[in-house]
Amino acid sequence: MIRKIGILTSGGDAPGMNAAIRSVTRVAMASGIEVAGIKDGYKGLVNGDIVNFTRSSVSDILARGGTILGTARLPEFKEEEVQLLACERLKEAHIDALVVIGGDGSYRGAKSLTDHGINCIGLPGTIDNDISGTDYTIGFDTALNTVVECVDRLRDTSSSHHRCSVVEVMGNRCGDLAVYSGISCGAEIVVTSETGYDEEAIMEKLRYLDSQGKNHAIIIISEKITDVSLLARKISDHTGFSGRATVLGHIQRGGSPTPSDRVLASRMGEKAVDLLVKGIGGQCVATVHNEIVAIGINEALMMPKMQKRFLYRLFDRLV
Ligand code: ADP
Ligand code: F6P
Repeated sequence: MIRKIGILTSGGDAPGMNAAIRSVTRVAMASGIEVAGIKDGYKGLVNGDIVNFTRSSVSDILARGGTILGTARLPEFKEEEVQLLACERLKEAHIDALVVIGGDGSYRGAKSLTDHGINCIGLPGTIDNDISGTDYTIGFDTALNTVVECVDRLRDTSSSHHRCSVVEVMGNRCGDLAVYSGISCGAEIVVTSETGYDEEAIMEKLRYLDSQGKNHAIIIISEKITDVSLLARKISDHTGFSGRATVLGHIQRGGSPTPSDRVLASRMGEKAVDLLVKGIGGQCVATVHNEIVAIGINEALMMPKMQKRFLYRLFDRLV
């Protein structure tokens, strides 16, 4: 029987984290369980930065991006003595179980705490959509909407100036933001770790599009692949388009979550509480074919990331 649940957000923030915090809090309180918010991820936990929540602690946060709890990275949390210190802090605050909203790294921390006797449930919070076992992560849909809005604007001005816009999107080695936005925006070229980077093929394609009378071209490229400013210069030098680079950067991490992310976060928050009430820990919540399910954290971390070849195939058939 649990009496108090703690909640923290960890790793990079994502729109919808607040919706998840609110859902965990409201669902738990409706079952007579107290809730405490832990500031700044595992760092705040180890420092004992813990606040008891009331219902109004989560009022008016559903539509807000970021995380009201703050987030941080604490590399030392991999060390067992630091994890044991965190368990002590939880016991001092009378917290019996914990919900951790974050990515793979945060899940590993949650699994370690569960192994030390504090049941933890992980919720997938990241714009990258790079967590195995779940079709979508909290924040991905909002970030995708932001990218699409930005690229639509870039297309207007690129068209007026016979330009090629090279747009770098986030993803942390996962190409989902790039390929989903490429399809949504009708981009001409998508480059991700899945497609590989062939500079000569890009130039060739741009020269072909130019010869066909195309007024603009959009290249969406995942971060950490190449220097996009350099690529834009090469495009100016070797094709009929003038190249311009735009790095969307942290703009993609902010903003009010979409209804889809709010609903996903609310459903996942509910599932986390239900699992903890049943005395289950060491699991993470996922959405699979629009069902909300639970998977062992170790199992999820070992699952290969779902290949999206069907999306790349579709993209190729649409250009
Ligand atoms: P994300 O959760 O978005 O993948 P990180 O990989 O930066 O982000 O992990 C967030 C935090 O989770 C780290 O700063 C650290 O505190 C904790 N963490 C990461 N890896 C481990 C691990 N192997 N064991 C325990 N805690 C970990
Ligand atoms: O994981 C989310 C993410 O935004 C990645 O897409 C990106 O690579 C990374 O975090 C950026 O991290 P930081 O906010 O520490 O610069």
